[in-house]
Amino acid sequence: AGISVRAPSSTANLGPGFDVFGLALDAYFDEVTLERTGGGISILSEGGIPTDPDRNTAGIVARVMMERFGITGGVEIRIRKGVPVGFGMGSSAASAAAAAVAFDGLFDLGLDGDTLVECAGAGERASAGAVHYDNVAASVLGGFVIVRTGPLSVIRVDPPEDLVLCVAIPEMDVPPKKTQVSRGAVPERIAMADGVRNLANAAAMVAGFLRGEPEVIGSAIQDVIVEPARKHMIPGFDRVKGDALGAGALGVTISGAGPSVIALLAGSADSGAVADAMRGGFSSAGLGCRTVICGP
Ligand code: HSE
Repeated sequence: AGISVRAPSSTANLGPGFDVFGLALDAYFDEVTLERTGGGISILSEGGIPTDPDRNTAGIVARVMMERFGITGGVEIRIRKGVPVGFGMGSSAASAAAAAVAFDGLFDLGLDGDTLVECAGAGERASAGAVHYDNVAASVLGGFVIVRTGPLSVIRVDPPEDLVLCVAIPEMDVPPKKTQVSRGAVPERIAMADGVRNLANAAAMVAGFLRGEPEVIGSAIQDVIVEPARKHMIPGFDRVKGDALGAGALGVTISGAGPSVIALLAGSADSGAVADAMRGGFSSAGLGCRTVICGP
């Protein structure tokens, strides 16, 4: 008998927390089903993602876990993609996270959270070209996560229930290797004053999550380092952001490596008005856009 695991989409960075902060979003889910077979790794998937096990995030996770935990025999992996691929919603991470948790269950390994995140991260490396655990940690553990590396150690915090997100997903062709391209735009060196500003906002964001205050979380989403370096890749970004703030969003930034844009709202805000504003912003740049209102 097989085992099926569903893992949620996620948004990484949340402004000042590049490669450190992640937040699971109940907007979309990937489902991975694993079954034992006599040998090898085979993949059945829909929706144009690679089925070669060495190029598929779930396949790589299975291979890494088989080697690491000395598993003999094989697995068949079935993947149902619900998370849009390539839009900064943690799509590859969701498949990797579901695969790691399913593998742990199928072979009764009893792994702890950090080990599951580490295994899922191996799949992410393949698609992003670099390891970063923000999306996989959120997808494996749920909630708001803070990732420290060397050694890997993840802290998770329950988000406040009245935190609402509006995600705008533009209809555009995403370049191949988008995450590598947009990581290439991030500066290698930064000014101390910029580091201080982002550190202050990152610290405020953690306080906002611990205290359960959407206003603090939303106002802390300001990022003076990565967003300015990447926003030219998102047509209409300044309009989307300005109009969403004008419609009552607390804070707006790029979701992960983009091109989706997230707006954070308090539960009492008019999320429909923010969604309309974001659609209007993208349409000013000639792009259609899908919006989802979701929670952590
Ligand atoms: N932290 C990563 C980045 C997330 O912004 O490049 C990519 O999904």
